[in-house]
Amino acid sequence: MLKTHQCGELRPQHAGQSVTLAGWVNRQRDHGGLIFVDLRDRSGRVQVVTDPTHAPDAHDVATKVRQEYVLQVRGVVRARPEGLTNPDMPTGDVEVLAEEVTILNAAKTPPFYIFDDSPVDETLRLKYRYLDLRRQRMQRNIVLRHKVVKTIRDFLNDHGFVEIETPILFKTTPEGARDYLVPSRVHPGTFYALPQSPQQLKQLLMVAGFERYFQIARCFRDEDQRGDRQPEFTQLDMEMSFVERDDVMALTEEMMTGIIENLSDRTLLTKPFPRFTYAEAMARYGTDRPDIRFGMELTDVSDLVAGSTFRVFSATVASGGQVKGIRAPGCAVYSRRQIDELTELAQKEGAQGLAWLALDDAGEVRSSFSKFLSAEETAAIVAHMGAVPGDLLLFVAAPPKVTAAALSALRLELGDRLGLRDRQVLGCCWVVEFPLFEWNADEARWDPSHHLFTAPMAEDLHLLDSDPGAARGQQYDFVCNGEETGGGSIRIHQRDVQEKVFGLIGLDIETARERFGHMLEAFEYGTPPHGGIAPGIDRLVMLLAGESNIREVMAFPKTLQAADLMAGAPSPAEPKQLEELHIRLVTGDEK
Ligand code: AMO
Repeated sequence: MLKTHQCGELRPQHAGQSVTLAGWVNRQRDHGGLIFVDLRDRSGRVQVVTDPTHAPDAHDVATKVRQEYVLQVRGVVRARPEGLTNPDMPTGDVEVLAEEVTILNAAKTPPFYIFDDSPVDETLRLKYRYLDLRRQRMQRNIVLRHKVVKTIRDFLNDHGFVEIETPILFKTTPEGARDYLVPSRVHPGTFYALPQSPQQLKQLLMVAGFERYFQIARCFRDEDQRGDRQPEFTQLDMEMSFVERDDVMALTEEMMTGIIENLSDRTLLTKPFPRFTYAEAMARYGTDRPDIRFGMELTDVSDLVAGSTFRVFSATVASGGQVKGIRAPGCAVYSRRQIDELTELAQKEGAQGLAWLALDDAGEVRSSFSKFLSAEETAAIVAHMGAVPGDLLLFVAAPPKVTAAALSALRLELGDRLGLRDRQVLGCCWVVEFPLFEWNADEARWDPSHHLFTAPMAEDLHLLDSDPGAARGQQYDFVCNGEETGGGSIRIHQRDVQEKVFGLIGLDIETARERFGHMLEAFEYGTPPHGGIAPGIDRLVMLLAGESNIREVMAFPKTLQAADLMAGAPSPAEPKQLEELHIRLVTGDEK
């Protein structure tokens, strides 16, 4: 080893010891007589001093070093003189008096500071990711990620799970996104699809008798990118045989609670995690991934306004819509402009407009709609909303889906503005009893709301024939701070039910056989009842680290345009490669 100690481990008890360190120059300060080099390795930093009267050669080398030079330093640890200690550094009570300094490698001036976490343009960070990863925040996030995965492996091993790898070059595994395709050289004109998840394979491992499987699995989805999405991401993929919904949820909850309590410095809001049915989550929060760190729940005032002379409200209710509101404490003082901003937000979600009522500190009402209502009607709404002086009430009148989406967006926006979405807190919950299907009006067929292997709830099985839209699935989503952090279900294990679902989603039996024949066939060879879940590792670590973007917890993420700025991927292929793959590019006019 080129070092005897880590920079960050030196403490007063090392004083007097001879040590050899190796690392990067965090900063170098020439104080006339003495040179101070802040030496950094993964463990932290320590101050190295060169003194020309003590070791002139070492001092001479130190005059030449610059930021990010790689050094080896031999020296003696000593307590820093009284008054010169640095309480901000764990090693701040000591320094190393250099005997010998060796430059192991020089470095160009980095494009941004490594020694602090000051903000840097993300494009630059991604282009020089290896330098960005040297910074403290990224080191901390990546090490946290390692610990999370290690804890998961240990936990699942202790619970009888077997880790099994499944292929990346595979066949389409739909999870609702576009596939990444890989052309086959050996079989001209055919393609592998990169798995959107190992869903089919883990179910086949249950047919194969492994009973408890997991994998830290890379998944590939060609979909529009957002802060919490990447084209390739990692799931903790799990599957269990002979289980029911609550077994999978209980095991996942035990594991998640342990991870949060042991590895993160964040506070778990409540345990056990609250459970909401889909219908309840939609009614109370307007979304199937509620952020439960704060209240401001949706209140239905439809009944109160159904007979009102304010047409916007009464006509909406008459046509099957809903009028619902939220109560924003302390926001009665909002200006016209602030309310316009909120109106725009509601309109983005499809609402026609936003009705509002402010109750000032004296209890006086100022409102966009009260002039259309009687004083009694207004008072009834104010009372039903539980409003107190200082509150701003916001109402959306629209079809239920739009009301939910608009008020959910407003609730989150106000939660942010009021500082109620504290990243120091992790609010975890479950959402269950999702509808099995969603109606796809464009294609005039049902789409699976989770994926096409999710089992209907036993009591809703008969609805597959009579009213598929009302059938609920045995699906469960693990939600944390309003992020869908994991999803899973009990699976269909009977061929006839699976074929019925294929039929409902418009897959004729020929196509279903061609795509999923291996699954259908497997189901005829003694398939155990089974179910599983897949928490997203990136999203989980993002929440544990208090980050707002999954790129901050991935070593080499892609941009929102799915590009790797460091390596320059994707990039054109050589004509010879394309020829071997039997591919001819269509360009310009040929399109
Ligand atoms: P689902 O599609 O819900 O379920 O995905 C499970 C979890 O994976 C994470 N996730 C993502 N993370 C980052 N970028 C993405 N593009 C992305 N897409 C999904 C989320 C999500 O909750 N096969 C099923 C699981 C099962 O039924 O067992 C599945 O993949 O955290």
